[in-house]
Amino acid sequence: MRIAMIGTGYVGLVSGTCFSEFGIDVVCVDKDVRKIELLHENVMPIYEPGLDELVADNVKAGRLSFTTDLKAAVKDADAVFIAVGTPSRRGDGHADLSYVYAAAEEIADAMTGYTVVVTKSTVPVGTGDEVEAIIRKRRPDAQFDVVSNPEFLREGSAINDFMRPDRVVIGTESDKARAVMKQLYRVLYLIETPIVFTSRRTSELIKYAGNTFLATKITFINEIADLCEKVGANVHDVARGIGLDGRIGKKFLHPGPGYGGSCFPKDTLALVKTARDFGAPLRIIETVVDVNDKRKKAMAERVVAACGGSVLGKTVAVLGLTFKPNTDDMRDSPSLDIVPALVEAGAVVKAFDPEGMEEAKKMLSGITYCDDAYTTLAGADCLVIVTEWNEFRALNLSKVKAALKSPVVVDLRNVYDPVEMQEAGFTYISIGRP
Ligand code: UDX
Repeated sequence: MRIAMIGTGYVGLVSGTCFSEFGIDVVCVDKDVRKIELLHENVMPIYEPGLDELVADNVKAGRLSFTTDLKAAVKDADAVFIAVGTPSRRGDGHADLSYVYAAAEEIADAMTGYTVVVTKSTVPVGTGDEVEAIIRKRRPDAQFDVVSNPEFLREGSAINDFMRPDRVVIGTESDKARAVMKQLYRVLYLIETPIVFTSRRTSELIKYAGNTFLATKITFINEIADLCEKVGANVHDVARGIGLDGRIGKKFLHPGPGYGGSCFPKDTLALVKTARDFGAPLRIIETVVDVNDKRKKAMAERVVAACGGSVLGKTVAVLGLTFKPNTDDMRDSPSLDIVPALVEAGAVVKAFDPEGMEEAKKMLSGITYCDDAYTTLAGADCLVIVTEWNEFRALNLSKVKAALKSPVVVDLRNVYDPVEMQEAGFTYISIGRP
């Protein structure tokens, strides 16, 4: 089997590399010449643990290659995956499908013989129909099927999520395409991964329904955390107490500053728009979007309150800028709301993130970037933990206390124990705990 993967972003690069690890010949294509040059030198465009080794191994084995030449890559491929970006369209929140449609046109011009065209990018319901129409229009005689095969990988554990997924979803009405997809996922069949075969439209909706459900779960526990603070309850015990009920499940009940990242904010918004367009508004998701946006903004107020009602002229040390650990991704990170609000309120902000500094510098200005955690918090009036990188979970508390001007810690990820922090002499504010 031979596949072409169009787009070497998160989804494309990880999926392409993992397919090659499954023994399939994979050519990854990108228009960005520099990106392809760097990939040839085994320099990854994203930070993802384990990816560089996996790429190097498969390139060495001759199963994985990178090119800017889409035509050549698509020509002999049994399947062509579209894994280009579908960002939020400026102004209306709909998914911007221009990259997907442009890829469809190029694929149409390049394919030979029967080809399965697979949308891996997160695309609204009906996009597969449009991709099919675009290809059919350019190549009325071409032999092809368009399949939906959404990706559920999480940044930071993307390789494991691809290799050992909870399920694979494949949307197609064509037996021929189903046979090709089965062959591509043969390795996962062997380890008895559930494979959900369904219609293309259903498959497209599964991806959005999954992400919006998870975003709802997080938002639910975040609101329960706020209530816990008011009534003197502990949100972690609530999460455990409800999560052990198999119908609810333990995962995605960790409270925090609000969800961010490349998927949840964009996908919740896009599904809300689609649902409105089809006259079936999703009022729960609309509320989730609103509550989460307000939550991210409200986090700065917690810091201000912890600093006695004003941060004017005070130094605030921020540890963690990325939307979650083990990534350099800053997209829709809570830090993008928190830090500017603190600066606006007159704080002097010092910040450090283990992998996200380069990206952060493009998005957050007017702050001082430091080289490590302890330099960041030296002399600060308050320490704020925004992202739960492991190295921030294991800070030397006496060293932290000695370095801070006043021992105030706002822990937006609940990585420390309130009792331990109190005993260590900190004024400690976390989320949803007495
Ligand atoms: C998500 C989905 O998990 C994945 O299936 C999909 O394909 C892409 O979107 P990702 O954005 O990489 O993956 O991160 P994820 O680990 O799901 O976290 C998303 C956001 O939710 C982060 O901001 C994270 O901090 C937050 N979160 C997650 C919580 O606040 N609490 C939780 O319990 C879980």
